Amino acid sequence: MSGRLLLLLRLILCIVLATRQLALAGAASSSTVVTSLPGFQGRLPFHLETGYVEVDEENGTELFYYFVESEAGGENDPFLLWLTGGDHCSVLSGLAFEIGPFKFVLEPYNGTIPSLEINPNSWTKVAHILFVDSPAGAGFSFSRQPKGYHVGEISTSLQLHEFLIKWFRDHPKFLSSPLYIGGDSYAGKIVPFIAQKISQGNEVGRSPLLNLKGYLLGNPATGERIDESSKVPFAHGFGIISDQLYETILGHCQGQDYKNPTNVLCAKALGTFHSLLSELMLPHILWDKCVYSSAGPHAKTDDSAGAARKILSEEAAEIKLGKRLKHPPVRPRLDCINYAHYLSYFWANDERTRGALGVKDGTVDEWVRCQDGGVPYTRDIVSTIKYHRNVTANGYRALVYSGDHDSVVPHLGTQAWVRSLGFPVVDEWRAWHLHGQSAGFTVSYSNNMTFATVKGAGHTAPEYEPERCFAMFSRWILNQPL
Ligand SMILES: *[C@@H]1O[C@H](CO)[C@@H](O)[C@H](O)[C@H]1NC(C)=O
Ligand SMILES: *[C@@H]1O[C@H](CO)[C@@H](O)[C@H](O)[C@H]1NC(C)=O
Ligand SMILES: *[C@@H]1O[C@H](CO)[C@@H](O)[C@H](O)[C@H]1NC(C)=O
Ligand SMILES: *[C@@H]1O[C@H](CO)[C@@H](O)[C@H](O)[C@H]1NC(C)=O
Repeated sequence: MSGRLLLLLRLILCIVLATRQLALAGAASSSTVVTSLPGFQGRLPFHLETGYVEVDEENGTELFYYFVESEAGGENDPFLLWLTGGDHCSVLSGLAFEIGPFKFVLEPYNGTIPSLEINPNSWTKVAHILFVDSPAGAGFSFSRQPKGYHVGEISTSLQLHEFLIKWFRDHPKFLSSPLYIGGDSYAGKIVPFIAQKISQGNEVGRSPLLNLKGYLLGNPATGERIDESSKVPFAHGFGIISDQLYETILGHCQGQDYKNPTNVLCAKALGTFHSLLSELMLPHILWDKCVYSSAGPHAKTDDSAGAARKILSEEAAEIKLGKRLKHPPVRPRLDCINYAHYLSYFWANDERTRGALGVKDGTVDEWVRCQDGGVPYTRDIVSTIKYHRNVTANGYRALVYSGDHDSVVPHLGTQAWVRSLGFPVVDEWRAWHLHGQSAGFTVSYSNNMTFATVKGAGHTAPEYEPERCFAMFSRWILNQPL
């Protein structure tokens, strides 16, 4: 064989190998531009991209995302990574019930795919938002090896940092946008830690440099006892418990862990407290109590749930539900806030939806809004307070807001820990306004942390008070006073 031919053969071999490697590398991230969605009439009037980023190569873990570009149209509009509560809820909750560009039309489900409509208060009007299903096992995120599902708060946070680095490598045009990390409820446990990890990564020169400016959290868990103990003065202030019970709890529960009290009198008083509180819908105490429709495969069912299932299975016989629908949630009344949650189950499990979103075949058999327990998960971030203090002391901004009618993470506890960080007040407690009316109250500290209440809102504040929350968010993210 002539030398030249050999050289040519080598060259071809090189090209073949290089192409294969590219293909393999490409397999780590994949994306789909979505121009229409089942249930939505016509072309989507916003830019939606979905996809996966591999965050654990050994176990084959890929996190699914929905990315919506800012409708303000500026290249350098703020950029928000949004995580939802849980610990294993799909981020579709944040997108379709809270801050994203579309929502479900509230009409009775009859076997036709649920309809979608535009959310006029979408936060994507002012910011790019990357919604991520995390940890593995939530929403459409999956792992090829069962081991990949054995994660915890710290490993999930590190995976999300990895996720961002890879995502921005593939989307460099967004690198110059001011970056914020946000979420609500349980996401409070991991957002401050991720912010610190990003900040540390930037310090040690990880590439690309992430343009982190701060974070925001709604009714966030901290892991501290105050998340639980603040429910008592909250319930007292709203007239849910008597002065007498309030005094008994204060008297016997000093220094106790309200979740596991060791003092017998304290435990007894808290038992009475919980039975009174259970008369209300916990995420918003003024709304009707409805069956909770997050039921996943591990959810407990009660009699009313069983009854609702039966109705559904009767329907199912008529309308031939797909094979994925193994654990349909309990059907709430149409006027319940969680009717949209119920609709989301049928929408997300429809083959047409999965096709449009580019969900990989064979990865997630049945989509559930939240996995209720039964999934391994290590709670290894005991308290977030030190991360709040450190991150804001290092020059990052923070907005912490509370729907003021939430008894799950009451505003009283949040206000107390924000104050306990010990920074001086720079903007005294005052009302903030919308349409000439107070929309909530706010106070700001010298570490650039703003605390705000949202009047009339519940646990997932934008789900209850979308207009007020949008006003608050857009002012804060654009560096304007509330
Ligand atoms: C179900 O409801 C939708 C929306 O209200 C309607 O357009 C559709 O025709 C109904 N389908 C059936 C099978 O009744
Ligand atoms: C794969 O999963 C195992 C078990 O959860 C874990 O110890 C290991 O760190 C994971 N691999 C990677 C690369 O994260
Ligand atoms: C505080 O955050 C910085 C990064 O901004 C990090 O380098 C440092 O280790 C953190 N300190 C503590 C006590 O966690
Ligand atoms: C607060 O934020 C502003 C604007 O981002 C920044 O210029 C300033 O340095 C921050 N202050 C502190 C104390 O971090």
